Amino acid sequence: MAEQTGGDPLFESHDPIFNRKELLHVGHVPDEDRIVGRDDEIQSVAAEVGAITRGDPPNNVMLYGKTGTGKSLISRHVATRAQDAARSNDIDCGVLYVDCSEANTETRTTRQLALSLKEQTDYQQNIPLRGVGTMEYYQHIWRILEACFDAVIVILDEIDKLDNSNILMQLSRAREARKTDAYIGVIGISNKVQYRETLDERIDSSFGHRELFFHPYDASQLREIMRNREDAFQPDVLEGGTIELCAALAAKKHGDARKAIEILKEAGELARRTGSETVSEDHIQQAQEVAEINRIEELTSGATVHAKLALYALASRIITGDRETYKTREVYERYVGICELVANDPITENGLYRQLKEQAFLGVIESEKTGGGRSQGSYLLHRLVTDPKHIVKAVRRDSSLEELPTYDHLRERDSSTADRDVDLESFS
Ligand SMILES: Nc1ncnc2c1ncn2[C@@H]1O[C@H](COP(=O)(O)OP(=O)(O)O)[C@@H](O)[C@H]1O
Ligand SMILES: [Mg+2]
Repeated sequence: MAEQTGGDPLFESHDPIFNRKELLHVGHVPDEDRIVGRDDEIQSVAAEVGAITRGDPPNNVMLYGKTGTGKSLISRHVATRAQDAARSNDIDCGVLYVDCSEANTETRTTRQLALSLKEQTDYQQNIPLRGVGTMEYYQHIWRILEACFDAVIVILDEIDKLDNSNILMQLSRAREARKTDAYIGVIGISNKVQYRETLDERIDSSFGHRELFFHPYDASQLREIMRNREDAFQPDVLEGGTIELCAALAAKKHGDARKAIEILKEAGELARRTGSETVSEDHIQQAQEVAEINRIEELTSGATVHAKLALYALASRIITGDRETYKTREVYERYVGICELVANDPITENGLYRQLKEQAFLGVIESEKTGGGRSQGSYLLHRLVTDPKHIVKAVRRDSSLEELPTYDHLRERDSSTADRDVDLESFS
């Protein structure tokens, strides 16, 4: 299909690589027959919220699993189908979706809920964007629910980014507290299984809920997911073996469908930029590296400069050393030297330890406790979940840290001095 360009020849060009690129956008919700290997998960989510379609109270459910395992997709898919099924039973069921990584406070989340409820109805009252608090947004939510809905499914995506969990209690107690008669079913989503424990500490039993775990995709599922979107490309552009390679790379790393699709898209863009007529395995390899660096940068984007320096320190030890794991003390020594290099005051070793734990929480590193025997005490060993090269590149993208030695610089270091303390002078 040729692109519509409004008739100006300056912009009239046939895309030689992509045909329907939108199929490769992360937010794209594929048709039901293009959803691969999630029948059980679809069934299970439907079993929790499905009572709504019969006019009965739903269960709340929490979905856990790594990024790119289809949690957002499946919850939207099931919620929309529940809404349709409810409608055919004359039940008015709303669907609300909030990405809590953006709306990361209770005020922002409730504002967004109120606004999207207003959008779905002919609610006349003005909902202010600023200057009012959470309570007022709740008032609007209850009023709209009361006036227009029998039930609502609220999807709180990336709920672990929310600074408190009060909203879960408010939503689950709303009927009991006589705020509204509408049934409310919450689908909470977290990329971090660790969130489970903090959740239990934060909420009381009023938010009764089931839990579901989404597992990473294997290579053959990833292959099928991508095959289903092959028409994103022009015919015969994808060389044989590219989808297989892309699936294999993504499966080996994280079983992440988002990543697999991203790599495929990036490979296409690379081919187009370099004037190639086809997408080759080489494009996939290069795209994979770019995607990984982007991912690390994204994961660490909210982190402090010290967390980034801590990550860099661990990466640089791995690159210059001959081990995959290092103790907190060893990372700290390297970190202090690196701080000097970028003229930053180092934090304490204990502070660094906490930064490393935070990174473990983000899934960038893995920390394992090793018993050194009673006399030595136990200590943590840290390893990177990704190629240290990617960490170095991602950290150096921070403009305040671009003075740090590049990967090639680190590699050039004489490995005989590797595990001793570094002479960082030699880098500058
Ligand atoms: N089972 C699947 N079938 C087809 N596409 C999928 C499947 N799972 C995930 N995807 C696609 O992969 C990307 C990431 O999925 P998403 O639901 O956002 O993952 P999560 O929310 O777990 O991080 C989306 O573009 C989605 O459409
Ligand atoms: Mg998601």
